Amino acid sequence: MKKFFALIICALVLNFFVPAQVQAVDEDALTASVENFYSTLPKAKGDYKSRQRPILIQGAMNIETDVLIHALKNPVAYRELNYLFVAGTYKNYPVVVARTEIGLSNAAASTALAIKKFNPVAVINQGTAGGYLPSQDVGDIVIGDKTIPSSAYKTAYSPEGAGIDITQQEMRGLYAFDTASGNFTRHGEFHCDTTLFNIAFAVANAHENFKVVSGTIATADTWLNSVDYINFLHEKYGSSCEEMETVAAAQICQNAGVPFIGIRVISNNVITGENFDVSSAKVAQDFVLLVVENYIRDVLKKISEAC
Ligand code: 5AD
Repeated sequence: MKKFFALIICALVLNFFVPAQVQAVDEDALTASVENFYSTLPKAKGDYKSRQRPILIQGAMNIETDVLIHALKNPVAYRELNYLFVAGTYKNYPVVVARTEIGLSNAAASTALAIKKFNPVAVINQGTAGGYLPSQDVGDIVIGDKTIPSSAYKTAYSPEGAGIDITQQEMRGLYAFDTASGNFTRHGEFHCDTTLFNIAFAVANAHENFKVVSGTIATADTWLNSVDYINFLHEKYGSSCEEMETVAAAQICQNAGVPFIGIRVISNNVITGENFDVSSAKVAQDFVLLVVENYIRDVLKKISEAC
């Protein structure tokens, strides 16, 4: 009996001292569940053909793509190297939704395949992210005016036994094609397309139900739960949130000269102790559909009318 009470007290004490945000989301459970739905979509036969260049919208996981795919008319599924793409129309304009899978390499591969296969007129990478500020609540949206590779660093030299000081690092950046020099050069940040940015902000101003800010999206194959590390990245690089795909998609879009923007919803925030909330993924998709609708109406339709 004594042991039983000791165990309960230990559990209570541990629960009190262990911060709420200790685990990353269970990606396996999330990515597996909607697979059945995708398998019901008609499979594409032959190459993608469209009179107009489609808009490509990306999300890493099922929870970040299901609203988008359900919004498409006449959806058809493509699989390239096991990456899923669903092509259809939205507001009478061709749209392709890509499930990139999680992480930088997957996002880069999916983006490159999509650019070759669908020749998109623009790419929007969207999905969930962890907040870097105490003011950010789950459901808040960050429009990425830029995105940075949050693991492309070079550390300062320190001898064996000196310990690890993460603050002694400089951005090295990612190698992306630079049209001016004709070479792949280092980029510590990727700026979004200004037309897409202005449209996204116009949507935010017109729809006050979304809480939207612009900011720097930090991408790495890591999930930080260290508040000091997060504060350091926010102070040094101005990062507003972290996730695992945006910069890789931006890099490939820069290589190919395709307009790009990243839009993320805060799904968790270790500073405020908010754990991953799956329902936040819908907020980003709802917002992005409005951006797409406005982009089609105000930019793409006008271009095709002028031609
Ligand atoms: N850190 C890293 N990735 C996050 N994601 C959501 N929140 C975070 C976070 N705090 C997203 C990534 C990836 C998946 C694990 O969830 O972009 O796709």
